[in-house]
Amino acid sequence: MAVVTRRIGLSLGADLCWPAAFEMLVKKLDLAVQSPEGEIRFDVQRVRVAPFDLAEPCRYDLVVDRLTHWFHTTREWIKKSVVADDLYVLNNPWSIQSNEKHTTYAAMMRLGLPIPKTMMIPPKAYETDGDWEVTVRRYNDLFDVGEVGRGVGYPAFLKPYDGGGWVGVTQVKDERDLRAAYDASGKRVQHLQAGVKNWDLFVRAIGVGPQVQVVKYDPDQPLHGRYVVDFGFLDGPGWRTATRVCRTINAFFGWDFNSCEMLRADGVLHPIDFANACPDSQVTSLHYHWPWLVKALVRWSLFCAATRRPMKMNLDWRPFLDARDPGLDLDAQLDRYDAIARAHFDADRFEDWCQKHLADFDRIAVDVFSAPEMRDVIRAKVAALYPAHEVEAFTDHFHGLVRFWCKTERDRIGMGE
Ligand SMILES: Nc1ncnc2c1ncn2[C@@H]1O[C@H](COP(=O)(O)OP(=O)(O)O)[C@@H](O)[C@H]1O
Ligand SMILES: [Mg+2]
Repeated sequence: MAVVTRRIGLSLGADLCWPAAFEMLVKKLDLAVQSPEGEIRFDVQRVRVAPFDLAEPCRYDLVVDRLTHWFHTTREWIKKSVVADDLYVLNNPWSIQSNEKHTTYAAMMRLGLPIPKTMMIPPKAYETDGDWEVTVRRYNDLFDVGEVGRGVGYPAFLKPYDGGGWVGVTQVKDERDLRAAYDASGKRVQHLQAGVKNWDLFVRAIGVGPQVQVVKYDPDQPLHGRYVVDFGFLDGPGWRTATRVCRTINAFFGWDFNSCEMLRADGVLHPIDFANACPDSQVTSLHYHWPWLVKALVRWSLFCAATRRPMKMNLDWRPFLDARDPGLDLDAQLDRYDAIARAHFDADRFEDWCQKHLADFDRIAVDVFSAPEMRDVIRAKVAALYPAHEVEAFTDHFHGLVRFWCKTERDRIGMGE
């Protein structure tokens, strides 16, 4: 029988741990899918950066891309490969480039999700060259930032409209705080967003294709402790809401891999930050939850590559907008959106495909994550981030949490030691 190879590329920057685990999983799985084309096999390679001919076909079927946000050679190579060669890429590069936090808030407000009141504020400082000054003088209204603050209410968060990684985010408790924060905010366009008051739970929903995992989050901890190891923090309906909100956002924006932060107050989950395409994937942040993420990336990559899932190059917002009915409660509304989102991600077919072709995957994954080499993978990432004298202790810490995942996973799937 003919053998056809599907090439999966990992487009990487500082990442060390998840690519290594991804490669180990695919290797150990050694998947062969019988298809009318022949026997499909999978080859994972790390994408190199070099001069490229715009007319030269891309050799990959799918790329998991970590660079589009900031590494322009790769971003343009990805865009060329999608538009010219039907490459499938996690995530849609045009959507990453053009949909800032701002658009995501506006769009999800229109869909009726409980996003806190948000104002956009022109920047405090401007460039002095070109037409900046004349434009500002001629057309910018003078405004009182205190009045904006009174309209939004306190506490509030002043944050860049296109932000990420907590850079430039300031909590303001009163007008004095707001004035000081705005005066210091420089040339970046800002949002002032009402703070969610008295929240009792912070979760991050991580989505990969149609798969969503919800993790409790503690923003007050140092980086290695923010993702919390906890279970049962949401009841069934809460879990369903969190997963459906995440899948809806991800389908809406064409982000196959994204995370959604939500704060719960009075039983309502308020999404506050969900333009996080390609979120942190390191074992040093995700620890216990890291195997879930790597497995989800492997499953979705294999499915998309094997079935030649067509890349959705253009976003299609109309079906979501048409599904909005202000007369519906949020639950009924999310039923509608999630049906569109699941169809977007071909969720039923994906789940069937996994059952058929990845029946042993959970067991194989436990073997891979509990193998002695996994400690070396974790250590390499820790050594890249931590001072020398902390490397052993933090390696043990993260490795211990991954081993704990192996234990709970063995219990979950009824697998012996
Ligand atoms: N509306 C809000 N209500 C309560 N806390 C908020 C709100 N907006 C931001 N925060 C806090 O500030 C942090 C950073 O803001 P966020 O919008 O997530 O920015 P970034 O995109 O940089 O992660 C959040 O993780 C949360 O702890
Ligand atoms: Mg955030």
